[in-house]
Amino acid sequence: MWSIAGSLLLGAGLVSAQGADTAPYPNAYYPGFADPNTDAGAQSFQTSPPVYPSPWADGSGGWSEAYTKAQAFVSQLTLAEKVNLTTGVGWSSDRCVGNNGAIPRLAFRAMCMEDSPVGVRDTDFNSVFPAGVTIAATWDRALFYQRGKGMGAEHYAKGVDVQLGPVVGPLGRAPEGGRNWEGFSPDPVLSGIAVAETVKGIQDAGVLACTKHFIGNEQEHYRQGGYTGSEYVSEAISSNIDDVTLHELYLWPFADAVRAGTASVMCSYNQVNNSYACANSKLLNGILKGELGFQGFVMSDWSAQHAGVATALAGLDMTMPGDEGFDSGNAFWGANLTIAVLNGTVPEWRIDDMATRIMSGYYYVGRSDSTPEPNFSAWTLDTVGPRFWESGANVTTINYHVNVQANHASQIRVQAARGTVLLKNTNKALPLTGSEKFTAIIGEDAETNPLGPNGCGDRGCDDGTNALGWGSGTANFPFLVSPNQAISKYVLAHGGKDVQGTFDNYDIGTITSIASQADVAIVFVNTDSGEGYITVDGNIGDRNNLTLWQNGETIINATAAVCSNTIVVVHSVGPVLLTSWYNNPNITGIVWANIPGEESGNSLVDIVYGAVNPAGRLPYTLGATRESYGTDLLYVPNNGDAAPQENFAEGVFIDYRAFDKFNETPVYEFGYGLSYTTFAYSNLVITANGHSTYKPNKGMTSNAPTLGSPGQASSYVFPKGFNALYNFIYSYLTSTDLAAASGDPYYGTPANLPANAQSGLAQPVNPAGGAPGGNKQLYDVLYTVKATIKNTGGLAGDEVPQLYISLGGPNDPKVVLRNFDRIHIAAGASATFTAQITRRDISNWDTVAQNWFISSYTKTVYVGASSRKLYLSGTLSTAQSQGAVAGVESTETFSALPAYNTA
Ligand code: BGC
Repeated sequence: MWSIAGSLLLGAGLVSAQGADTAPYPNAYYPGFADPNTDAGAQSFQTSPPVYPSPWADGSGGWSEAYTKAQAFVSQLTLAEKVNLTTGVGWSSDRCVGNNGAIPRLAFRAMCMEDSPVGVRDTDFNSVFPAGVTIAATWDRALFYQRGKGMGAEHYAKGVDVQLGPVVGPLGRAPEGGRNWEGFSPDPVLSGIAVAETVKGIQDAGVLACTKHFIGNEQEHYRQGGYTGSEYVSEAISSNIDDVTLHELYLWPFADAVRAGTASVMCSYNQVNNSYACANSKLLNGILKGELGFQGFVMSDWSAQHAGVATALAGLDMTMPGDEGFDSGNAFWGANLTIAVLNGTVPEWRIDDMATRIMSGYYYVGRSDSTPEPNFSAWTLDTVGPRFWESGANVTTINYHVNVQANHASQIRVQAARGTVLLKNTNKALPLTGSEKFTAIIGEDAETNPLGPNGCGDRGCDDGTNALGWGSGTANFPFLVSPNQAISKYVLAHGGKDVQGTFDNYDIGTITSIASQADVAIVFVNTDSGEGYITVDGNIGDRNNLTLWQNGETIINATAAVCSNTIVVVHSVGPVLLTSWYNNPNITGIVWANIPGEESGNSLVDIVYGAVNPAGRLPYTLGATRESYGTDLLYVPNNGDAAPQENFAEGVFIDYRAFDKFNETPVYEFGYGLSYTTFAYSNLVITANGHSTYKPNKGMTSNAPTLGSPGQASSYVFPKGFNALYNFIYSYLTSTDLAAASGDPYYGTPANLPANAQSGLAQPVNPAGGAPGGNKQLYDVLYTVKATIKNTGGLAGDEVPQLYISLGGPNDPKVVLRNFDRIHIAAGASATFTAQITRRDISNWDTVAQNWFISSYTKTVYVGASSRKLYLSGTLSTAQSQGAVAGVESTETFSALPAYNTA
C-alpha cells in the first residue's frame, strides 16, 4: 500500500495525514479575564486527537430512502465517475460558483453550488432577503422558515442544486467579526433554532442547504494563509477551542442543523487546534459524522483543502472549487483521488461513502433529472457567453434572466419590519403619523449609493444606505427601496408638507440648518463589514472598531443639538457603541433596523409609522465599551509568520454570558426590545414530563459497504482524442503508470497513515450519537413551562417571551437562553407562553465520558422579556433533574412532581 506523498496529495507538506491531528499549543489565558481554574472551557487543553476511520453513512434518522437511492445510483458508477461527484471542476470552469463533474453516461448533469445566505448571488431577477442577523432579531420561527423557503425557491428556479448557506459559523465570538451578520446570533440556541428552520425551508423548496462554516471561523484576519493587509502568515489561524466550549457553544447550532437534515456542511478555512478544519478528523469524523450522525456530505470552503489523501480520510467528501489554488489547473483530488483509490491508499469504501453521501443529500431534498438546470452564469450577466467560462469554451446562451422573485418582496418587507428592534421611545415619540409638518431625513444612510445599489462589487463599500454587508454572502439588488424614498412617499401621502433630506455627513452646517426647522428629524447611521477578501476603509472584512461609520456619531449629536425630536435609525452589522448619544433627551427614539435587504425603506416605514407594532429583540448585546465584551479578534499575528494562535480562553462566556459573569452593565441587553404596547408576565407553571432513562448509544456499526471495485488504471486514462478544457479538473489519468500520472516525484513513499484510517471494519458507535443531531434522548422533553402574558396596553402587538436557565454550576453562565416564542396578543388580552425544556437544555458536556450529563447543581428556570428582565422563576429540584450521568445508565426519578407556581 503506497501513498502519493509530496505536493500533489499532501499539500506541499502543509499537513501530513498524521500531523493533521496534533495540537502542540496548550491553552493560554487573557490576564484578568478567564480564570483557568474556574472557567468551563478554559480549563482543558484545546486538542483534536485523531479519530479514524471516517464513519460511513447508514441512512439512519429519516435518510433511508435517500440513502437507498444513492447506493443504487453509486453502484452503477465507475471510479472516475465517483471521483467526478467529489471534485469541483475548477474555479469559474462551469456556470456556478462551484460545480462538480458531470456523469454524461447516466445523463447526470454537474451539480451547481451557488451562494448565498441572503439569496441567489451573481444573477438578476432574484430577491435580496434580510441578513441572518435581521431574521434572528424577529425571534420568529415561522419567519425563519418562510425566509428559508423563499431563498430555497429562488435557488431552485435558477437551477441551483446547493445553496451555500445558512451560516452559524461565525457564531459571533467577538462583535467585530466581519461575517457575523451573515449568521444569526452569538447565542447558540437562537442560532440553532434559526438555522434549523432555515434548513427546513431551503430543503422543502427542493434545494440542498450547505450549513457553514464548520467551525471556529470567527474572524476574517488570517482565515487563510498568505497576506492579510501587509501581514504575511504561512498558515491559517488556529482557533483553539476546548471540548466543553465546542459542545456547549459553537457546535450547538450545527447539531440543530444536522438534526434538521442539512444535506451538506461546509468546513471552514481556519485551523482548529492546529489542524485545518477540512482535515481535522476529530471534527469531521469524530464529531460531525460520529457524534452528530451526519448523513450528508462535507464540502470544503473555496480552497480550504490543503491535502489530498489526508482530507479524504479525515472526512471531507467534496472539494470546492476543485483546483488546488484558483485557476491553477492542479487538484488535490480529481485524477489524484482516482490514483489514490487505485493504489489502495484511499480505500474503495471511502470513495463509495463520499459519493453516497453526496447523492443521499441530492435525493433527500427530492432532486432528480427533471429539476431545472442552471439558467444563469455566475461570471457574467451577458445573455450570451462561454458556458465553460474559464476555458472560454462553448459560447451559447448562458443567462436566461429568469425572474424568480415570486411574492418574496412583500414577505421580505414584513421580515425586515419584524426584525427591527425599537430601543428607545421617549413619551411615545413613535410611531409618527406622517402628518408632521416638516420631517427632516438626515444622513448618507438614508439614500442609495450614488453608484447604484450594486455600485460596488459584492457590495464592497459603505456608500449610501447599508442594506447588506459585503462579500460572498451577498446578492445583486434587483431594486433597493431607500429609507428616504419610502419615508418621503409616506409623509406626502399622509399630510406632511415638507420632507427634506440631506445626505452629506460632512456638511454639518446644512444638517444643523435643516434639523433646527424640523418637527421631527430622522437621522440615519450605519456600520458595515464583510468577507476578508475585500477591504473597505481599512477594515479587512472584520471591523476595526465598534463605532459608527460615515461620521455617524457627529451627525447624530449635531442633529440632537438642535432638534428635540430626533429619531435615530441604525443599520448595523452588529454591536455599536452608543454611549455618547443614546441618553440624550433630545433623542426620543432609537430604531435598530439591522441589515434589512431590498425592502429597507418600506420595512422601516412600517415600524416608524406604526403599521407594524415593533417586536424585534436584540440578537446580541449592546455594551458600553469594546472591552466590556471580553473577547476581541486577533488583528496582528502572534506566532511569527507561522499560524496565528487564537485561544478561545473565554470558554462559553461570549456576549451576554460575559456581561453577566463580569457584572458589566450593558447599554441594551441581549433579548431587549420595546413595543408600542406593554406586557405583564405572571403564573409560571413548570411540569415535569414522563421520560426514559438516558442511555449512552451502544453497539457496533456494520462493516463499511463497498459499491464496486476500483478496476484498472487502463480504464481511466483520458479517452483518445479527448478535448480537455483549459484548467478544467478531470478525474482521468494521463498514463496507466500511476507514478507518472501523479507527476509526484515522491510517489511510492510509504503512506504513514493514522491508525485505522483505512479500516472498513465495524466500529463502536459514539455514545453521544445514534441519530442526526446526536443521541435521540438529548431531545426528550423533560419539562414543559407555561406562563401567562397579558397585553396591558391599548394596542395589539407581539411579545417575545424568553426562557432562560441557570445550570447552577460554578463554571456555568449565570443564565443561558433555552427557548422563546413570538406571540400576537390583542389589546387587553392574555396568552399562554408554552415552552419545552429538553434533556440537552439542562445538560453539560463531560470531557471524560465524552457525553452529556445533568449536573447536581440546582437548575433555575426564568421566563422574561430579555436576558436581564427575568420576571418569573422556578427551580427544578435536584431530584427532578439529576441522573443521566454520562456513560452510566442511571435511574432518573421524574415521578409526579408538584407544579411550580410563581406569579
Ligand atoms: C466563502 C464561502 C463561500 C465561497 C464561495 C468563500 O470565500 O468563505 O462562504 O460560499 O467562498 O463563494
